[in-house]
Amino acid sequence: MSMDVYEAMSTLRAVRRLKPDPLPEHVLHRILQAAAWAPSGGNVQPWRVVVVRDPEKRRAVGDLYRPQWAKYSAGARRNLAQLSGEALAKQERMLAAADHLGEHMGDAPVILVFCFNPDHMAITDADLGRPSVVGGGSVYPAVENAMLACRTEGVGCTLTTLLCFCEDEVKTLLGIPDGWYTCAFLPIGYPQLRGHGPISRRPVEKLAFADSWGTGFVAKSDG
Ligand SMILES: Cc1cc2nc3c(=O)[nH]c(=O)nc-3n(C[C@H](O)[C@H](O)[C@H](O)COP(=O)(O)O)c2cc1C
Repeated sequence: MSMDVYEAMSTLRAVRRLKPDPLPEHVLHRILQAAAWAPSGGNVQPWRVVVVRDPEKRRAVGDLYRPQWAKYSAGARRNLAQLSGEALAKQERMLAAADHLGEHMGDAPVILVFCFNPDHMAITDADLGRPSVVGGGSVYPAVENAMLACRTEGVGCTLTTLLCFCEDEVKTLLGIPDGWYTCAFLPIGYPQLRGHGPISRRPVEKLAFADSWGTGFVAKSDG
């Protein structure tokens, strides 16, 4: 199974309505292999992933996620008042799908719980007096690789992080040892509906600057 990497990246959208059907083991292994290929600082790979397939444990993860989503979505719904037209419709569609995931995360056949160990990371922005993100750079490439592999395999997935709010309960449930923490939870499974497809993102020239901040990058002619 393979797909052009640009096609995979440009159609990797959050797929939140998943069938409960089990994933073939070889497909799951390829997804995990993709994660394992990701780069990390010093090639230390300071991450592990707990592949949650046990129905009781999935249900327990889903039960932890449900109230977290309910709380988060109440805030997101309050912000809808500022929107109108297509932007409002889009956000409402997203929230409806996310509500479904909020109710059914435990029904996904597999939940990938990514963990990290900061002792094994060179966190170069740890003492700058601002939120530190560099450590995530040794974990989230693995998460993204797993998601791109899901896309290629026709497996739906969504990156979620709300369960970090109840990390202690998750650690107890999954036997995650001291020194290890959670950073991403991916419910994965075959899509109930169309699954992956077109995405909406800012254009390159709004995100990439040429030589100094603020000048949108526009490719010159190579000739
Ligand atoms: C760091 C991060 C955390 C996220 N957390 C959640 C979450 O808790 N629940 C959820 O339904 N989606 C979550 N998402 C998915 C985003 O909402 C989604 O990627 C974004 O709205 C773009 O949607 P699209 O990929 O379908 O285009 C998260 C995504 C990221 C990158």
